[in-house]
Amino acid sequence: MDFQIKSFDDYKAKYKASVDDPEGFWADIAGHYKWQKKWDKTLEWEFKTPSVKWFQGGKMNITENCLDRHLETRGNKLALIWEPNDPKERFIRYTYRELHEKVCKFANVLKAKGVEKGDRVALYMPMVPELTVAVLACARIGAVHSVVFAGFSAGALADRINDSSCKVVITSDGSYRGTKEIPVKGVVNEALKSCDSVEAVLVVERTQWSVQMKEGRDFWLHDELEKVDANCPPEPMDAEDMLFILYTSGSTGKPKGVVHTCGGYMVYAGYSFANVFQPNESDVYWCTADIGWITGHTYIVYGPLLNGTTTMMFEGVPTYPSPGRFWQVCDKHGVNQFYTAPTAIRALMAAGEDHVLSYGLYDLKVLGTVGEPINVEAWEWYHIHVGKERCPVVDTWWQTETGGIMISGLGNHSPMRASYAGYPLPGIQPVLLDQEGNEIEENEKEGYLAMKFPWPGILRTTYGDHERCKNTYFAHYDDYYFTGDGAKRDKDGMYRIIGRVDDVINVSGHRFGTAEIEDAINSRDELVAESAVVGYPHEIKGQGIYAYVITKQKPDNPDKLRAEIIETIVKQIGRIAKPDKIQFVSGLPKTRSGKIMRRILRKVAEGDTSNLGDTSTLLDPDVVEEIKEGAL
Ligand code: WTA
Repeated sequence: MDFQIKSFDDYKAKYKASVDDPEGFWADIAGHYKWQKKWDKTLEWEFKTPSVKWFQGGKMNITENCLDRHLETRGNKLALIWEPNDPKERFIRYTYRELHEKVCKFANVLKAKGVEKGDRVALYMPMVPELTVAVLACARIGAVHSVVFAGFSAGALADRINDSSCKVVITSDGSYRGTKEIPVKGVVNEALKSCDSVEAVLVVERTQWSVQMKEGRDFWLHDELEKVDANCPPEPMDAEDMLFILYTSGSTGKPKGVVHTCGGYMVYAGYSFANVFQPNESDVYWCTADIGWITGHTYIVYGPLLNGTTTMMFEGVPTYPSPGRFWQVCDKHGVNQFYTAPTAIRALMAAGEDHVLSYGLYDLKVLGTVGEPINVEAWEWYHIHVGKERCPVVDTWWQTETGGIMISGLGNHSPMRASYAGYPLPGIQPVLLDQEGNEIEENEKEGYLAMKFPWPGILRTTYGDHERCKNTYFAHYDDYYFTGDGAKRDKDGMYRIIGRVDDVINVSGHRFGTAEIEDAINSRDELVAESAVVGYPHEIKGQGIYAYVITKQKPDNPDKLRAEIIETIVKQIGRIAKPDKIQFVSGLPKTRSGKIMRRILRKVAEGDTSNLGDTSTLLDPDVVEEIKEGAL
């Protein structure tokens, strides 16, 4: 890992070099990986179309870099530790050699089911070791993985399978999360009623429940593994071939499939992991995210394995069997780098210090957070009680679209300040823009966060709809990638992320478009005339979901109707998108042109009705009074 930054001065020098000669900088980093054929051209780009190509002409396979490359020196080193939901169940460990073999065999099963380079494979699975193996098996043969978080509903899964016409689905019989038992295969069966592209389903046995298997379509993974050998050479991939699709919500329409490609993503995942977490050879690293989100892709699977690090995955939840579980697991496996979300920290903080004070946590060296702004109180609790004031806290800002961490501390090599993500990684060129799209040069200012130069991990398109990629990220401001976030830069040039400036809500680090939830509510059109959804500050989840709903008739039994609306959302999107509050209203504050004034709705949801601004231009100013009075 000789591209690891070693001090703040080193950071500054590398940052400067990366701006002076970005191509030279990235070519140097890319040179640390194994390429079957070296690239001809480091970078070709423009943000209009947009078109970004890194390492063109290069041939490689990311799994060769994650696995084969380490076999000689790290073959017997642990690659993966799996900690089950139930602490009494045995954990599982694979060395690099074992993981390599498992990936090759799984890849051969996929081939036997007719999966070829470029085919899409959907993964709808709990956090079991087979999920990591499956992701890598797809990459091994050049199939494009599309991991769908297993908390999404059958409807949401079907939409994603259909959007990219997946040929195969990989799933499990069921799953355990805390005290819950989840019928995973049942959800897949339901989804597949409306998915014609799927030819085969591979089922991992986790719970040994009896599940419905469709003859000729559904196969138990363990049966199929018996029929294949462990020899599967890595498919040579062009640097710009697709590696994966990951669906994410935006401010409009249905979730879109963010596309990452092989070469650039590999370089960025490996580079950012090594620098932010600063792992040493013997370290055990744990990221508590689910592989269904980008954090799990880049910082459970690819980033750590590219660096030959021991990575841990956890099946359970932070509060089971007690709110001390994370810390018990850290002690049990000697975790050195720990990476989690502010929402989890706040939940554990609320459960009281005793749970963390009972554990030593002696091995911890770096603590990370991701997914949403972290408030000062949670940051300090994490730093003091978990890190014992010894460990730097890296507040890592990034997005599904950026592929990897963009603004963050680098282990203990950069200054840190509670609630500040900090400085951009070398190679990353953030700017703050004003309303008109002019760059704000001064410090101590707020603006829209954008990027003015590509980095290898930037998304390349949104699956099947390049126009949408352009409109969402590159059309707001000419020649910039627009993040959708607002940020502040302090006097020292450190960045503090304020939050989304678009209609995206971030609930416990999970992104939802308000439109997506409104569509689900409005689908009950026999009951609902219209709805508007906004986020509001929530003590644990960061943001909660507040829905204003106009019903066709005044509801006789509002609680029953609330329950029905929630059920509809759970069915169409999933449990994670359940509104916290539903207020029935007779109208919504709209401008004369019919646009909903969300600013007013947000204020009411926040419980701050003192200053709603000028409401005289509204179509029906009286409705604001009614909404204020009925606020929950
Ligand atoms: C937010 C997760 C503040 C932000 C990796 C971004 C953050 C969105 C941070 C992306 C952070 C992520 N501080 N806000 N450290 N990290 N965000 O695509 O609003 O699930 O745009 O990627 O989460 O969410 P996504």
